[in-house]
Amino acid sequence: MATELNKFSKTLTQEVTNPAAQAMLYGIGLKEEDLAKPQIGIASTGYEGNPCNMHLNGLSVYVKQGVTANDMVGLIFNTIGVSDGMTNGNDGMRYSLPSRDIIADSIETVVSAQWYDGVIAVVGCDKNMPGAVMAMARLDRPAIMVYGGTIRSGHYKGQKLDIVSAFEALGKKFANNISDEDFKGVIQNSIPGQGACGGMYTANTMAASIEAMGLSLPFSSSYPATHEGKQEECKKIGTAMKKLLELNITPKDIITKKSLENALTLVMALGGSTNAALHFLAIARSAGLSLTLDDIQEISDRTPFIADLKPSGKYYMEDLLGIGGVPAVMKYLYSKGLIHGDCITVTGRTLAEDLAEAPDLNFETQKIVFPLEEPMKPSGHIQVMYGNLAPTGAVAKITGKEGMTFSGEAKICEHESEIISALANGEIKPGHVVVIRNAGPKGGPGMSEMLKPTSAVIGAGLGDKIALITDGRFSGGTHGFVVGHITPEAFDGGPIALVKDGDRISIDANTRQLTLHITDEEMASRKAAWVQPAPRFTKGMLGRYIRTVKSASEGCVTDEA
Ligand code: FES
Repeated sequence: MATELNKFSKTLTQEVTNPAAQAMLYGIGLKEEDLAKPQIGIASTGYEGNPCNMHLNGLSVYVKQGVTANDMVGLIFNTIGVSDGMTNGNDGMRYSLPSRDIIADSIETVVSAQWYDGVIAVVGCDKNMPGAVMAMARLDRPAIMVYGGTIRSGHYKGQKLDIVSAFEALGKKFANNISDEDFKGVIQNSIPGQGACGGMYTANTMAASIEAMGLSLPFSSSYPATHEGKQEECKKIGTAMKKLLELNITPKDIITKKSLENALTLVMALGGSTNAALHFLAIARSAGLSLTLDDIQEISDRTPFIADLKPSGKYYMEDLLGIGGVPAVMKYLYSKGLIHGDCITVTGRTLAEDLAEAPDLNFETQKIVFPLEEPMKPSGHIQVMYGNLAPTGAVAKITGKEGMTFSGEAKICEHESEIISALANGEIKPGHVVVIRNAGPKGGPGMSEMLKPTSAVIGAGLGDKIALITDGRFSGGTHGFVVGHITPEAFDGGPIALVKDGDRISIDANTRQLTLHITDEEMASRKAAWVQPAPRFTKGMLGRYIRTVKSASEGCVTDEA
């Protein structure tokens, strides 16, 4: 049996022409009988410097134990991560989205070069999950993603806190709404230990939707990092991987148009991050599937937003576990015909078979997820916008709480840091549409997230009084009237590059139009006078990124001509 499961590794371990490889495998401690076993690469994005990643090397050891117990050889290797919460505004944040593709490239490289028969990725922070899944799709060998888990809430003076509380404290400080002692208290107590940011922000969004897509075991996205279920999940992975090898189920059996729809349906139902649009466009392309912004809009149109989760709502991922977790939500959506049940998952069964064992949502006892008939909003919060400011698309997050339309005067910020200083100086006024540009994939470069600006805006009490538009991204922690992913980006001469201070801009979520109110002639004359800025980097990783990255409407992939 074992020799049939090692179809890649046997090239190194069984062929007489590879004595050096075999010598090296004996050198790492394998015995003769081990060389006939399947080899599983265990990719960890563990590193000490980030709460989301600090425990992943430890979880990888449990994964390895489960792999070994199932008569396979587990070999742990590391790849990188970048903490979106610690990238110090635009300058560090430039590296965040590119880190997704480095993770994908590095997992693809190690698994291919070392001839592993399968791959298990143990991942935590925002870009880890899509990066790992892109690699799995490219490799198309049996694969499972293990999420490191969400963080528990922090507490200060009777209030629950998370990372966004720390950002918002800055806005309160600008508005003189917080004492120095409480400012410090919030910062010192927001993050109580290991785990990814606790709301339905990007990490939890991607973990939940990838579980919905079938690439993680049930409950992987719901167990907090410190929950005993997380260790148990890690120990069970070996059994699941063995079954995938035996059944020869690979990621392209699991990642299909239908399973992508399931993933995005869950994103809409739970009010997940706009980054999901970007990452699923990229995951689809890695799997050789067609997925467009318009497909995402269609899913948004048919999916009610039903969860009262942060950032727009009250609850955290740890609370969702208490009512049955992601499996219970999926079971409910499936019962209402919103989920395809015939998709295969890493359990080796269909999603419908997995969900038959999931708990039921109890609408009498919990107020976190609402019935479809009583939604927070009757359709999804992610809206794909077009218009003369975004001819090839933009992505907005409209929960309805902030209204459906906004019209105001443009206030240009050429860099994320400008909005922070403008806020501190009181230059951002109610009615402004703040335009943060040259923050796109090439112009930023790296399409920075605007977590710090948007949180500071909210903290300053301007959240419902201004709008923010950008060719950069918004963090999953963002709430308020925001439009990001504007394409073409300013660096490529998109209309966002042509906006001037004081221009009138309107955002209409009903018609999904983003409009700069100038005449076509004026637009053409500004375009004729526009000069492309010099790239901010010409060498190194960011220089290469500028030369290879595709537009946000194409998922910012870097591996296509
Ligand atoms: Fe890692 Fe938020 S910084 S999930």
